[in-house]
Amino acid sequence: MKITPSIRSNFFTNAHPKGCRINVLKQIKEAKNNKAFKGPKNVLIIGGSSGYGLASRIALAYGANANTINVSYESEPRGKRTGSAGFWNNIHFQDLAKETNNIHVDLLGDAFSKETKKTVVNYIKETFGTIDLIIYSLAAGARKDEMTGEIVRSQIKAIGEPVVGKTIDIKSQEIKTITVETATQEDIDNTVFVMGGSDWSDWITFLDTHQVLADGVKTIAYTYVGGSTTNEIYRDGTIGKAKEDLEKTGKALDTKLQKSYDGEAIISSSKAIVSKASVFIPQMPIYVSCLFETMKKHTMHESILNHKHRLFKDMVYGDKRITDDKGRIRIDHHEMDSLIQKETTNLMTNLSDSALLSLKGTKDFLTTFYQINGFRFDEINYNEPLKIVNYLDKFNFKRL
Ligand code: NAI
Repeated sequence: MKITPSIRSNFFTNAHPKGCRINVLKQIKEAKNNKAFKGPKNVLIIGGSSGYGLASRIALAYGANANTINVSYESEPRGKRTGSAGFWNNIHFQDLAKETNNIHVDLLGDAFSKETKKTVVNYIKETFGTIDLIIYSLAAGARKDEMTGEIVRSQIKAIGEPVVGKTIDIKSQEIKTITVETATQEDIDNTVFVMGGSDWSDWITFLDTHQVLADGVKTIAYTYVGGSTTNEIYRDGTIGKAKEDLEKTGKALDTKLQKSYDGEAIISSSKAIVSKASVFIPQMPIYVSCLFETMKKHTMHESILNHKHRLFKDMVYGDKRITDDKGRIRIDHHEMDSLIQKETTNLMTNLSDSALLSLKGTKDFLTTFYQINGFRFDEINYNEPLKIVNYLDKFNFKRL
């Protein structure tokens, strides 16, 4: 089968398995060039198949020589379906990371479910005994309420007044004006239920109850703060309410872990990147394009892998922590630099649509989005058919 990009509403419905390997390999190469650091031995990543979860997994597997368990929700290849990029990232990470001689396993399942939590706990008991770090890096559109059986959906909506913004339609490569509707209280509650802190708290409570947390255990979840150009849609909208809830949960978990394990719960505000989740948020494609343009101009751009490497080496396990008045680790301080914010805002507000589309930053944004789904790599001949079943058979994928 020939695999060419298939995009719907800023979302790829397919992925190129060989391109996903290049993606993972690129991050591994970066990780190998980075300085090693003393970190956790056994790490559980919830949402480690793409974006920040995958970068965290690679940074820790190579930088700190850690074992990793990854829980992610990805689609497998079936018939004409290629399987999702995250599915292939998992396959390739495990295959490439055999060289670490450590244990790397994956569970493909719903992180919100009790069944998944039980499977992970059983595995920890059988293999590692205890876990030193839990990374909560989920970006989910829906969560099943196990009490009612209902599927609850998160919403990207404004609070108060509707917001008019712009986004890049990736398929047509046009800039479109969009109106983000006002949320009802139910929309806010649903988004908090899916993307807030309750499931993170459920995980830590479950692991604690089953006595698989090591002394000094740490847990970290990723938030986004952003600036004046993203506030209306992000921080002041439904997703911002979910992040507030996540941050509040972080405080409660911190108290609990400090008391019982001399451990800690951390919230880190990470910089805006190109990921499956972020491209879906209106305004983000334009903001990230202008941000890339500005940060590259000032040679302050940092790859996703290097961002997470610096987070763990310097700020989680090192002594160079930068925190704000809410106690959040601000690894996003380069993005939030006043000059960067000012110049990014200028580009967003003063450039015409065609000038925005011609920016090098926008081109980089688009290329990155294709590449995280395995496309637009010069090394791959996309006209060459790939028999996915045969390709998959080459790998000995360890799943729970
Ligand atoms: P992503 O879309 O690349 O990855 C999301 C991960 O969650 C994937 O591994 C996916 O399989 C997993 N997942 C989703 N639903 C699941 C379920 N029900 N069960 C198990 N796994 C599930 O997302 P990204 O962008 O890396 O986001 C991760 C976290 O980082 C989110 O909390 C996000 O808000 C935060 N963040 C993202 C930023 C960005 O610019 N992308 C900036 C700052 C924070």
